[in-house]
Amino acid sequence: MSVAPQIERAVVVGAGTMGHGIAQVLAQAGIATTLCDVDASVLERGLSRVRENLDKGVEKKKLSAADRDATLQHLSASTSKAALSTADLLIEAIPERLDWKRALFAEADATLPRGALLASNTSSLSIAAIAEATQRPGDVVGLHFFNPVHIMKLLEVVKGPLTSSSTLTRSLELAQRLQKSAIVVNDAPGFATSRLGICLGNEAMRMVEQGVASVADIDQAMKLGYGHPMGPLALSDLVGLDVRLHIGEGLFAVLATQGFAPPAILRRLVELGHTGKKAGAGFYVWERGELVRENPAVRAGPAA
Ligand code: CAA
Repeated sequence: MSVAPQIERAVVVGAGTMGHGIAQVLAQAGIATTLCDVDASVLERGLSRVRENLDKGVEKKKLSAADRDATLQHLSASTSKAALSTADLLIEAIPERLDWKRALFAEADATLPRGALLASNTSSLSIAAIAEATQRPGDVVGLHFFNPVHIMKLLEVVKGPLTSSSTLTRSLELAQRLQKSAIVVNDAPGFATSRLGICLGNEAMRMVEQGVASVADIDQAMKLGYGHPMGPLALSDLVGLDVRLHIGEGLFAVLATQGFAPPAILRRLVELGHTGKKAGAGFYVWERGELVRENPAVRAGPAA
């Protein structure tokens, strides 16, 4: 049996919240990585966030200045996807739109060398449905990272019905190289993480709607009572309320369990453009990346 060569060149498509962090950890592991985005300003912002993360890591003595410099040397950026033609790994981190992901995988299938790994960072869409857009579904896998990618230890490896055992083995080897702990999950809606995370977040939002307690106290309940590093509402702000809404809608459509139905308050905040930390407001107001107070808009509208 032939042994697949080690991954040397990667392309990450999508330079937003997840993509820049994924590109960082790949480059940190010594993989020549190209971060791609159609929007040059998103690309520039992604690169500057990588630089900030690395500088902060040096400050906190988590990595040396030499490691930071080597990481940056392994990282390049492009608005074109030309680097796909020589890559042995694609990780897609574009918005959670199945049609967009399928189009990207079809394009990657036509361009990537044989034997490359085709991975999606989707947090809830079906890997089988994405893989169907290619002629090589055995090489397609879910590699689901967590925000902030350079800190969170988990990699959720999602095995589609046609994902080959060698693709799975290579994914687990990659996780080790990236110093992540992997779990393997079958291609079920929301996998292990989003399915549980969305339910908790949605219920916390319904509790806000019903006036059970304040936003801060609901978060404090889970932090101090259950030992979560962040409360579910602050975490929803971190992930992005628009992202949470999309995932909830998708899971409600397939699982048809009331817990997944997006709460009205979530829809209202997204409509207001209060999509969380990245927008400066969600359940909280955020300034310079720090949570400062509850967002008055949470209380301003009709409750439920
Ligand atoms: N580089 C390297 N290490 C860094 C770093 C950097 N730039 N910045 C911080 N660190 C290290 C710190 O040194 C510290 O390490 P130790 O534990 O060894 O001391 C650790 O990271 C924590 O850092 P901080 O003390 O600065 O921060 P914190 O304690 O306030 O934690 C947090 C911040 C990690 C975000 C924490 O609040 C947390 O874990 N929150 C939950 C995040 C979460 O659940 N994410 C998943 C969201 S769901 C998702 O992403 C998937 C999806 O599909 C949408």
